[in-house]
Amino acid sequence: MFEKEVGSLNFLEARRELEFLEKELKKHDELYYNKNMPEISDVEYDKLRLRFNKLEQSFPDLKKSESASVRIGFSPSSQFSKITHQNPMLSLDNAFSLDDIDNFIGKIERFLNISKGNIEFCAEQKIDGLSASIVFVNGKIECASTRGDGYTGENITENIKYANDIPKTIPIDGKIEIRGEVYMPIKAFEELNRTREINEELQFANPRNAAAGSLRQLDPNVTKSRNLRFFAYYIDSFGSDLKIKTQIEALEYLKQVKFNVTEYMLCQNIDDIIYYYNYIHEIRSSLDYDIDGTVLKVNSLDLQKRLGFVGRNPRHSIAYKFPAEEAKTKIKNILISVGRSGKITPIAVLEPVELSGAIISRATLHNFEEIKRKDIRIGDKVTILRSGDVIPKITSVDKKSRVDDSNKFSEPEFCPSCGAKLTRHQDLIDLYCQNRYSCPAQAVRYISYFASKGCFDIVGLGEKQIRELYSEGRIKTAADIFTLEETDSKWGVPLSKKPSWGDISAKKLFDNIKSKRNIDFSKFITSLGIPGVGETVAQLLADNFENVENLFNLSKDNLIEIDGLGNIMANEIFEFFQNKININFVNELLRHIKVNPEIRHKNLNKSDIFFGKMIAFTGKLSRFSRTEAKQIIIARGGIISSAISSKTDFVIAGENAGSKLRKAQDLGIKIITENEITRNDDR
Ligand code: IVH
Repeated sequence: MFEKEVGSLNFLEARRELEFLEKELKKHDELYYNKNMPEISDVEYDKLRLRFNKLEQSFPDLKKSESASVRIGFSPSSQFSKITHQNPMLSLDNAFSLDDIDNFIGKIERFLNISKGNIEFCAEQKIDGLSASIVFVNGKIECASTRGDGYTGENITENIKYANDIPKTIPIDGKIEIRGEVYMPIKAFEELNRTREINEELQFANPRNAAAGSLRQLDPNVTKSRNLRFFAYYIDSFGSDLKIKTQIEALEYLKQVKFNVTEYMLCQNIDDIIYYYNYIHEIRSSLDYDIDGTVLKVNSLDLQKRLGFVGRNPRHSIAYKFPAEEAKTKIKNILISVGRSGKITPIAVLEPVELSGAIISRATLHNFEEIKRKDIRIGDKVTILRSGDVIPKITSVDKKSRVDDSNKFSEPEFCPSCGAKLTRHQDLIDLYCQNRYSCPAQAVRYISYFASKGCFDIVGLGEKQIRELYSEGRIKTAADIFTLEETDSKWGVPLSKKPSWGDISAKKLFDNIKSKRNIDFSKFITSLGIPGVGETVAQLLADNFENVENLFNLSKDNLIEIDGLGNIMANEIFEFFQNKININFVNELLRHIKVNPEIRHKNLNKSDIFFGKMIAFTGKLSRFSRTEAKQIIIARGGIISSAISSKTDFVIAGENAGSKLRKAQDLGIKIITENEITRNDDR
């Protein structure tokens, strides 16, 4: 990226480069911290910062007192009120090699004047999220804030209450501050992006940006719908005697009061540090959240205090980052993949290459715009990057080494599976095969999804097996899975006699299918594969509709009223249940399986006046916000509707109610005020 080594730059060149880097870092900080929409990867950002720091070290005269190297994070956004941190929320220095770690430990030993090898460390995972501080007073959350510029953060007190893994109360008097990392699980991130795609909203680049964008919301209800989680790693009891002397004790205490902490380890020597680092690197891809390294902290809190800070970093801790996950390889071919809802994705087939322990032979090219923009061609030498655990992507193309006769890759016109003409929704980037119900690729993809873990979880029925069963005609729709055993003998060679199956596999499969004839309502909804409806949205629908019959009878109004569903999603869901093919499919499925209704009303009193009743609102409420009022009604078993019709049971009228109120009066619907909708637990 940089042509000359820092050592061979003259003063003028160094000044020019420093000015350039300062501007770049500022721009990327703004994009990352305030807009939650970074344009470069962490690896690329780290390279810029490393170069910047090196330049400042080599040319101390060029160092400004307020330079980018002492700034942490970014000024808090003016949209939020501000909270000044009692102690600054600083940042960690990075280590990329064992030498860096040796250096870090050596400095600590010299600073403390302790002989070699006598310091214990607590090693933790480095969560790739955003840090937050939560202050508890007498056991209750007093306030919460983001890191901001390290000194002042944004007030996110209401939002943090909607993140999971944060106890509502902790059994301790006085004031205590807990810091940790807010993150979004990878699955939740993928689902959120799918939903956003359907709602034609901008995609989040990675789970961390999605977490930041979800936490820094002026409307905490948005945060609520986002499935955020929290790992705690720091505690400050402001001098009150909690008897915590080490970082390990701090983590144990946090666990005891019901916070989540990462898997940590006491390291007594460098071998322990290496062991932990390698172990975490190995299990990285099995975690459902992103980590980008480990963190080493001097275990003794007394020593931590003595060590203090240098610049923006504490001397006692360091981030030991995983290696930049980049590799160079060649594109052998470009394949067109058809998703379960017909979305066409170009995939690069690569010459296999090792990337942090895994052999990579494919990378997503996202869409044809991306191919055009980067001018990616078959035969190109490329750099691939794996950020977090997401599928690798191509970051750059080495155009110099390109052979002259290589051809630009042209966008396909027809579906490679069924031959249907591909189309684009209005202004959208992605191409689609619209042959939703008879494209073999879409069918196989959908049936595989249906049988996968988050859905019916039919072990032994992966995409490969489904492709085989589909191409032989043994299953045509997902519902046919449940008649597979009955129809088995009809196929000449039964599965147990086919070399690809055999007695045991066939029996296991049939047993497994039998055991999956009972499914929870939310999983059932997830399994339908309604575009954009993953686990979270399915749970929302299950909570609101309770059973399959209600799904068939839902109106667009019912859907629009659900917080967390956009208008476009509501349309998508509504249309799914209007479509004859879908209705027939669901009915066929219901002949073979039983769906357990959602028991959200477990604790509800069936004699509640709102139970099972249709309720509409009109006018301005003064005691509750609309959102809170709706929540109360739902918690009491009511169903919200936005329009008023003969089916409406109650209208809750606030101030300045207009035509809706008149309509309700005309229809003779019972009209009540917001004072009649107190919470269950208030009554
Ligand atoms: S301790 C002085 N522990 O990494 C800062 N930080 O690059 C002490 N992070 O700002 C932070 N996992 O947002 C700590 N186990 C962990 C962490 C962790 C992730 C983040 C945190 C911090 C950033 C520094």
